[in-house]
Amino acid sequence: MGLLDGHRAIVTGGGSGIGRATCMRMAREGAAVAVLDLDGDAAEVVAKEIDGHAFQVDVSQGDELARTVEQAAQAMGGLSVMFNNAGVGSFSALHQYALEEWDRVVRVNLYGVFHGIRAAAPLMLAGGDGRIVNTSSISGTRPAAGEAPYSAAKAGIAALTASAALEYGPVIRVNAVAPGLIRTALTDPMFQGLPDHVDHVVGLTPVGRAGEPEDIADVVVFLCSDLARFLTGQNLVVDGGLTLHTSGVDGIFDRIRTLLPDP
Ligand SMILES: NC(=O)c1ccc[n+]([C@@H]2O[C@H](COP(=O)([O-])OP(=O)(O)OC[C@H]3O[C@@H](n4cnc5c(N)ncnc54)[C@H](O)[C@@H]3O)[C@@H](O)[C@H]2O)c1
Repeated sequence: MGLLDGHRAIVTGGGSGIGRATCMRMAREGAAVAVLDLDGDAAEVVAKEIDGHAFQVDVSQGDELARTVEQAAQAMGGLSVMFNNAGVGSFSALHQYALEEWDRVVRVNLYGVFHGIRAAAPLMLAGGDGRIVNTSSISGTRPAAGEAPYSAAKAGIAALTASAALEYGPVIRVNAVAPGLIRTALTDPMFQGLPDHVDHVVGLTPVGRAGEPEDIADVVVFLCSDLARFLTGQNLVVDGGLTLHTSGVDGIFDRIRTLLPDP
C-alpha cells in the first residue's frame, strides 16, 4: 500500500531537480502524476519513467496554466494533489535590478504559485479532497543579499499558503516546503564554481551535508499524505538545520565549555 494510493497529482517544474524527484516518489507511492514544465522535453522524459502525463506550460501565464491543469486533470480522471514547485533564481544588487528581471522572477515564483492554486482549487473542491504544497525557500525567511525579488517572492509564498489554508479548509490542506541548499540544476553553478562556499554552508549544517532533491520530495509526499492530516498553512523548513544559526550568542557554548572543568 502506498502513501498516495488513488491520488491524482500535478507537479510543476517536474522536469528537473526537486520536481522530478517528487514525481518519482509520488508515483512510487501510488499516485497518477502529470509532469508540467516549461521544458516540454524534460517533462516528457520524466513522464515516460513513471508512466505519467507530460505537459509543456509556463506557470507565469495564468490562463495557460489553468487550461493545462484542466487537461491534466481530465487525463488522470481528477485532481487531488498539486505541487506548485516551478521556480527560477537570479542575482543582482537591489537598485540595479532591471525591472523586466524583477518581474520575471516574481512572476514565475510567486504568480506561478498563485495561478496554480487558482487552477487547482475549484477541481479539488468539486472532488471533495485536496492537498496543495508550494515550494518556498529559506531565502523567504532568511533572505540573502543579492536575491531581493526571489526572497520577496518566496516570503510571499509563505503568506499565500497561509491565506489559502484558511480559505480552503476543511476540504483542501495547503502547506509550503522551504528547502535549504539542495543539489539541482538551479544550484549547480554554485556547486561547480564555488565549491569552497558549498563547503562553508555544509560546515554550518547540523546534519553535515548538502541536500539532495529526494530530501525534499519525501517531505512533500508526507505533506500530501494522510500522515499530515492535521497540518495546514505551514511553511516547513527542510534545510538540515542550516538556518538555526541566527542566535545572538551562536557558537558561545563551544567557547565556554573549553573553560569548564571536565564532568
Ligand atoms: N535547489 C535549491 O537549493 C533550492 C532551495 C530553495 C528553494 N528551491 C526551489 O525549489 C524549486 C525547484 O527548483 P530546483 O532546485 O529543483 O531547480 P531546477 O532548475 O532543477 O528545476 C526547476 C524546474 O522548473 C522549471 N521551470 C522554470 N520556469 C518555469 C516556468 N515559468 N514554468 C514552468 N516550469 C518552469 C524548469 O524548467 C525546471 O525544470 C524552485 O521553486 C526553487 O526556487 C530550490
